[in-house]
Amino acid sequence: MDSIPGVIGGSGRLDHWLADHKQDVDALLQDKGAVLMRGFDVPDPQAFDAAVEAYGEAGFTYSESLSNAVRVNVTERVFTANEAPPSTEIYLHHEMAQTPLYPSKLFFYCEIAPHEGGATPLCRSDLLYSRMKDADAAQAEAFAARGVRYSNVMPDENDAGSGQGRSWRSTLGVDTREAAEARLASLGYDWEWRDDDSLRATTPVLPAVRTLLDGRETFFNQLIAAFRGWSDARNDPARAITFGDGEPILAEHMRSVIQLSDELAHDHQWQAGDVVLVDNFAVMHGRRPFSGKRRVLASLVS
Ligand code: FE2
Repeated sequence: MDSIPGVIGGSGRLDHWLADHKQDVDALLQDKGAVLMRGFDVPDPQAFDAAVEAYGEAGFTYSESLSNAVRVNVTERVFTANEAPPSTEIYLHHEMAQTPLYPSKLFFYCEIAPHEGGATPLCRSDLLYSRMKDADAAQAEAFAARGVRYSNVMPDENDAGSGQGRSWRSTLGVDTREAAEARLASLGYDWEWRDDDSLRATTPVLPAVRTLLDGRETFFNQLIAAFRGWSDARNDPARAITFGDGEPILAEHMRSVIQLSDELAHDHQWQAGDVVLVDNFAVMHGRRPFSGKRRVLASLVS
């Protein structure tokens, strides 16, 4: 099976190396979907920020994104990957594919390697979709033809105890209900206010399958994470995802997808100083539960 990620070993400052070798990284990224840069000298978030800068593509900021996760900026382009508790598994997903605004690539940086657990599973989404077609072509094509809608209940205030805990004010970058409604309308969402001032928002129909520039099809969506993990005080996974026509996506639709993705996923075990670049259109990522300290930071490319 294809190994993931591709690995580049080196030494010295990563920002200096990247400034001269972007084409090598991009070629390996195209081939593998994810690239690990290991052995370089990346001692702190500032060095990681400099490496991302040296890579030279425009950033995608957390503040402008519609991400549901609670995050904290460390430098201008670097933020904590997810503030959800260590015991919470983050299931495989394409970053922000549950919204109309998503980054094309993700950088991850390991500042503190986890003592136990805490790997980042990576899964080739093109291979997954091709296996799905082998297993049940009609169902795989139904995902592509029907698209998907996601519903999410956003709290009035950030709830760091949930993987989906970002407040509607922060998610939408607004201070008032009126401004929230205007932003949602401009993005094509439906919404409903609830008694506790939380906001249930439903996306327009978004694609479940994406065709890459080279013709490969990927299972580009948030369905696995939504189905397995969108559960907190406000959210019920069974109501969170439907096909584009409103029909619920059920366990029977997702069972074999989840099984295939588990088979294809490779756990990346972090070492301090590792930098991993992920093609967000080709590869899903997640986070295994962990105990003790772990600090993995992220930076997004628009
Ligand atoms: Fe993520």
